[in-house]
Amino acid sequence: MTNSEVYRHPRYYALGYRWQTEAECDFIQACLAAHGPGEVGRPLDSDVGATAAVLARGRPERASLGHARDAHPEPVEGRVQRVEGRLLDIGCGAGRHALELARRGAAVQGIDLSPEMVAYVSEAARTEGLDVTVSVANLRDLHLEGPFAAAWCFMDTFRFLLTNGDIVEHLRRVAAALVPGGLYLTDFWVPRQWDQIGSEIHQWEQTENGLTVRVFYLQHPESADPVSQTFEDELVLEIHEGGTVREIRGGRTKTRLLMPQEFRALVAESGVFDLLGSYSDFDLAKPLAAASMSWRMVSVLKRR
Ligand SMILES: C[S@@+](CC[C@H](N)C(=O)[O-])C[C@H]1O[C@@H](n2cnc3c(N)ncnc32)[C@H](O)[C@@H]1O
Repeated sequence: MTNSEVYRHPRYYALGYRWQTEAECDFIQACLAAHGPGEVGRPLDSDVGATAAVLARGRPERASLGHARDAHPEPVEGRVQRVEGRLLDIGCGAGRHALELARRGAAVQGIDLSPEMVAYVSEAARTEGLDVTVSVANLRDLHLEGPFAAAWCFMDTFRFLLTNGDIVEHLRRVAAALVPGGLYLTDFWVPRQWDQIGSEIHQWEQTENGLTVRVFYLQHPESADPVSQTFEDELVLEIHEGGTVREIRGGRTKTRLLMPQEFRALVAESGVFDLLGSYSDFDLAKPLAAASMSWRMVSVLKRR
C-alpha cells in the first residue's frame, strides 16, 4: 500500500493543516458533552481550556470555529471540565487533535501509517509533557487496546477504507475498543455537486515564522472506477522557506467515494453503532443539508 509522500514531512503538514484545529477539538468535546458515555466531566485545577470546557457543557450550537471565538458563554461556577476516559485518534497525522486535546487534559492514543508522523507526534508530546502515546498502525487492520471513551478519524482518512467489507470490519474493531456508549466521529469529503464527482480541487495556505505552506488537494477524474467507487487523489505542498520555493508532490493515492446514504447503510450493517447524526461542518447545529454543506461531512456514531 502506498502512502502519500506528503506524510513523510510532518513539520510542513502540521503547519499546512493547523487551521480549524481548536474548533474541531471543541466539536469533539461538545459531542462528548451532548452524547458521550456516562459522566464525562470532572474539575480541573486551572482555567486552561476554559472556552472549550464551556462549549462542552451544553452550548454545542457554538462549537464551530466561526462561533467559538466570539461566543459569550454563561459564567461557569468556578471550575473547568475535562474529558474523562482515554481518547483515540485514528490516522492522527501530525497530531493536531491529539496534542490539543491532551493540552486540555485528555489522555490520547494516536495511530498512523506513517512512521515519520508517529515520530513527530511522539517528540512533540515528550517536549510538552503531554499524555499522548502514538504508534504505527493500519486503519484497515486495527488491533486496539481499549477501552476508549471516544475515537475520531478526521480529514478524509476514513476514505482509505476502500471496500464495504473494509468499512464494516473497521467499524466493528473500533466499536470493540470503545466503552458502551462511546463515540466514533468521522469526517470525510463528499461531493457537493454531482457533476464534480472526482474532479474537485481545494487549496489553502498557512504561514508562521517565515514559513508558508500552500496545500493543494487534487482529484484525478480519469482514474475514477464507477464500479468500485474509487479514484485517485493527490496532495501537493508548496513550501516557501528562507527565500526558496519547493514542491512536494504526494503521488496518487487510491481513495473511496463514499456517499451519505451508503455511509448510513454501512453503519447499520456493522450492527455495532447508531448514527446519531451527520453535519455540514464541525457544528452540531448544522445537520447535513445541501444548502449548508461544506466539502466535509462530519458524523457522530455511538456504540451500542
Ligand atoms: C489527511 S491526513 C489526516 C491527519 C489527521 N487526521 C488530521 O486531521 O490532520 C491522513 C493521515 O492518514 C494516514 N494514513 C494513510 N493511510 C493510512 C492507513 N491505511 N492507516 C492509518 N493511517 C493512514 C496518513 O499517514 C496521514 O497522516
